[in-house]
Parts: sequence; C-alpha cells; structure tokens
Amino acid sequence: MSTVFVTGTGTDIGKTFVVARLLQIMRRNGFDARAIKPVVSGFDPGKAAVSDPGLLLSAMGGAISPDAIHAISPFRFAAPLAPDLAAPKEGRRLSVAEIVAFCRAKIAESKGPLLIEGVGGVMSPIANDGTGLDVIKALKIPAALVAGTYLGAISHALTAVSAIRSAGVDLRVVGVNESEGGSIGLGLTIESLRRFLPGVEVQGIRRGAGHADFARFAGACGFAVRPT
Ligand SMILES: Nc1ncnc2c1ncn2[C@@H]1O[C@H](COP(=O)(O)OP(=O)(O)O)[C@@H](O)[C@H]1O
Ligand SMILES: [Mg+2]
Repeated sequence: MSTVFVTGTGTDIGKTFVVARLLQIMRRNGFDARAIKPVVSGFDPGKAAVSDPGLLLSAMGGAISPDAIHAISPFRFAAPLAPDLAAPKEGRRLSVAEIVAFCRAKIAESKGPLLIEGVGGVMSPIANDGTGLDVIKALKIPAALVAGTYLGAISHALTAVSAIRSAGVDLRVVGVNESEGGSIGLGLTIESLRRFLPGVEVQGIRRGAGHADFARFAGACGFAVRPT
C-alpha cells in the first residue's frame, strides 16, 4: 500500500488537520489507514491528547497512551523549537538517517495507506543534519503540500513547490487550506496557483471542511475513496 508524506509551507498551516481528515475518510472507506509523525517538538506529556500524535491517534480511532504515542512519534522534544535546536537543549542529537530508518520500518509493516506528517515547512530542519525534504528524498515517496490563503501564501507555495520539484519528489497535490481570516480568499489563491503551476493538482480546503471534503484530496494522493 502507498505512503504519502504530508508537508506544508510552514508550521500551523494545517498538516495535522489534513492528515486527520484523510485518515477518517479512508478508514470510513474500509482502508486500514495509519499516520506517523516521527518528530515532534514542543511535546508536553500532560497535554498528549491535543498534541499532533494525540490528534492522529484519535483520528485512527485508537487510545492515547504513552506507548501508542511512542509508536508513531518516537522523536519527541520539549522545547517548541525546530528539532535541530530543541534536541541539543536535552543533550540529544537527531539524524536524518534515524528518522528515515523509523519511517522505513513503519512502511514495511503497514497493511494500508500510511501518511507521514513532517515538521514545519518543506525545508524546516527536521534533524541536526537535514531538512524535511531530505527525509522525503531519502524515502523516495510522493508528497502532498499544504498551503494557505494569507497574504504572501502564494510565494510560499510556489517556493515550496519549486524546492520539492528540484529534489525530484513526486508532488501529488497542493492542498490550499483556507487560512483563518485569510486576506486573499480561497478561490483567488487557487486560481493564481493553478496559473503558475500548470500540470500540478491544486485543490481547495475550506475552513471547517469535514472528512467528506477530503475524498478528492485522498484520490489525488492515490487512495480511491467515496465521499461517505
Ligand atoms: N481547514 C481548517 N478548518 C478549521 N481549522 C483548521 C483548518 N486547518 C487548520 N485548522 C486549525 O489550525 C490549527 C493549526 O493547524 P495544524 O493542523 O495543527 O497545523 P500544522 O500541523 O501544519 O502545524 C489547528 O488548531 C487546526 O485545527
Ligand atoms: Mg502538525
């Protein structure tokens, strides 16, 4: 079964929201869909339920326990900083090779679609020796990009797409996630991105979009589902 890396143009853009909705629609269609979020910073065990791994476990219909969190997010750091800065604060180091090895093991054992959520944006440092894009490249898996509709979002999206393409990564879809109070608007942002990205699948995600809205998005990622 296929694996897709869900990356974004930056932090708080909606990666976890999108992954959770994709998990829900795929599971409602009978897929044993799972997600991992290998690296998490700003992790507070006291607030596990609202952490990214906690939200992903809930979307998979599973209980939130320390073991369950460790199984999908083994590299957790307390400081709310990029991992290359958060790890040394705990006297630790993290390498791209360790992240890639964990993802490969999860890909090997997965029986259904597997989604991998990155950290921050496409080229945010994910380890002390590399960015999220280095992990996607090493895994040789397709990517989905989550972008926004705030002022400046188009440049961020085009820059991210350019970096993904230069790395030879198969970009399945750009999900334009309507930013809270976004100034440009969803329709105009999609129109502009489609004009500048011929041949790239660009889809809109409304604020508060329910899982049924993600059937097309899942399809673009390579998972054929009905909007149930
Ligand atoms: N389309 C949306 N509709 C409603 N809330 C959203 C939407 N996209 C993101 N959010 C909210 O915005 C916040 C940031 O999104 P999140 O998925 O955590 O971003 P990321 O994983 O990229 O850091 C979360 O509270 C999330 O629930
Ligand atoms: Mg997230």
